[in-house]
Amino acid sequence: MDKFTIEGGERLYGSVKLQSAKNSVLPLFAASMLTQKKVAIHGVPHIRDALCMAQILRELGAEVSFCGEEVCIDTANACSHEISSVLTRELRSSVFMLGSLLSRFRRARIAYPGGCDIGLRPIDLHLSALKRLGVNITEREGFILCECDRLRGAEISLDFPSVGATENILLAAACAEGTTVLSGAAKEPEIVDLEKFLNGMGAKVTGAGSDVIRIEGVPALHGVSFSPVKDRIEAGTFLIACAVCGGEVEVVGCSGADLSILLHKLRENGCKIHTKNDKIRIESHGRLRCNRRIETMPFPGFPTDLQAQMTALNAVCEGGALIVENLFETRFKYVPELQKMGADIEVKGRTAFVRGVPRLHAASVVAGDLRGGAALVLAALGAEGVSEVVDLSHVDRGYSDFQGKLKQLGAKIKRVRA
Ligand code: UD1
Repeated sequence: MDKFTIEGGERLYGSVKLQSAKNSVLPLFAASMLTQKKVAIHGVPHIRDALCMAQILRELGAEVSFCGEEVCIDTANACSHEISSVLTRELRSSVFMLGSLLSRFRRARIAYPGGCDIGLRPIDLHLSALKRLGVNITEREGFILCECDRLRGAEISLDFPSVGATENILLAAACAEGTTVLSGAAKEPEIVDLEKFLNGMGAKVTGAGSDVIRIEGVPALHGVSFSPVKDRIEAGTFLIACAVCGGEVEVVGCSGADLSILLHKLRENGCKIHTKNDKIRIESHGRLRCNRRIETMPFPGFPTDLQAQMTALNAVCEGGALIVENLFETRFKYVPELQKMGADIEVKGRTAFVRGVPRLHAASVVAGDLRGGAALVLAALGAEGVSEVVDLSHVDRGYSDFQGKLKQLGAKIKRVRA
């Protein structure tokens, strides 16, 4: 198992070029199954989830080639509608394949999806939406079998703005017969990206980024060459890293509007933030103040994917903070690891009570999930002494060259190969 060794205490200075958004790239891979023509996606980060999605497409018979950060996908020879449990269990995003396989083959058989261990992640909203589009669903022995004669547009209302369900509906409805009107849709920037991608292929989708998305089914889609939006969660992680360590860091490629609630919280901590076009600059000097309360919400609320990193920051701020996780059930599993470093945090259900301490100390900690792992890295960067963050398999799912980018900012971090 690879690990990071991190000597804490260095301030961070410099500029970070952001990767394309993991959460945009993954559904775009799935969307490439909607056409038999070639698709090119630019700036795809070398993260494990993207490689896993590529493997899923290959298993279905598609050709996927990486040329640097450009990925070319040719699904002309894809002939299978089944995804093996090995891959779906590793990657929750494999659930997007339901919509695109149904669109392509009218059938899909996939094992229940996996991903981070952050609590129950049901897919009932995906399945009931697909039923509305005319799909028959049977679930047996850990597999979901979806079948239909044809997909028919429908009015669908989501009880909760699930990101994945919204994306799956877009994928299934793009070539359905008739029009689908989805209300209660998720509004994340990555959904807007999927709309752009699909429309680039000839789809007729409007309204992404708002509550109501309208999808007029078209008979067929063509190829597309596309550059996805940059990763706002990666951007947020580096901004919070600077807040923890002190210094001045600029992230390039992300609009402040996509992170406005995080920027508001960082200002509350006492950081100075400047935004201009696609650049966000943070200055952090001296001891910061705790946020009184951070509560995760669907976009444009505070992103659950930055909750752990902000807890790590608050752990070394002055005062106390209340962190409430509304999206996932057990997203505080990293807290015992932070406690090993001297953090004073108490978790009760979905709330963490943080009492800031002046400084954390070094420890050997285990990264049990993607964002929790990133939070431990940030904590170690600010801690006294040399820490180890062990098991990088989750961190590798979402951050490409994390240590290289941190090193460039002046962090003392090394990746030690197992
Ligand atoms: C996506 C992101 C993930 C992020 C999350 C919330 C991708 C690849 N992943 O995940 O990084 O943390 O959005 O912003 O884009 N739910 C149900 N039934 C369903 C679907 C969801 O109950 O059918 C619940 C989930 O259990 C969870 C909540 O809704 O509690 C949010 O899930 P959702 O928005 O679907 O997140 P994902 O698409 O899985």
